[in-house]
Amino acid sequence: MAKRFQITLAGEAISFWAEPELTILRASLRGGGGLLSSCRSGTCRACRCRLLEGEISYLIEWPGLSAEEKAEGWILPCVAQPRSNLLLLRPAED
Ligand code: FES
Repeated sequence: MAKRFQITLAGEAISFWAEPELTILRASLRGGGGLLSSCRSGTCRACRCRLLEGEISYLIEWPGLSAEEKAEGWILPCVAQPRSNLLLLRPAED
């Protein structure tokens, strides 16, 4: 069986699966998580979520986040791939 990770959206009772080569955004669109997106290239920040638990890696060297945001756990799911099971928190809508 192919390796895959479970991704859970905190506080929403939503989870979906992602193979390690899939971006978290693509997995959410396929699996019913429905994360917001626009550019899908790590620049617009529409997909921004906080990583509460787990490990990711990026497809690009410089995703559009400051060092402070990264330290706070913000990630860009459109250019991030899971490296473990993940617990994500999407920002509250204004
Ligand atoms: S969709 Fe634009 S940064 Fe993720």
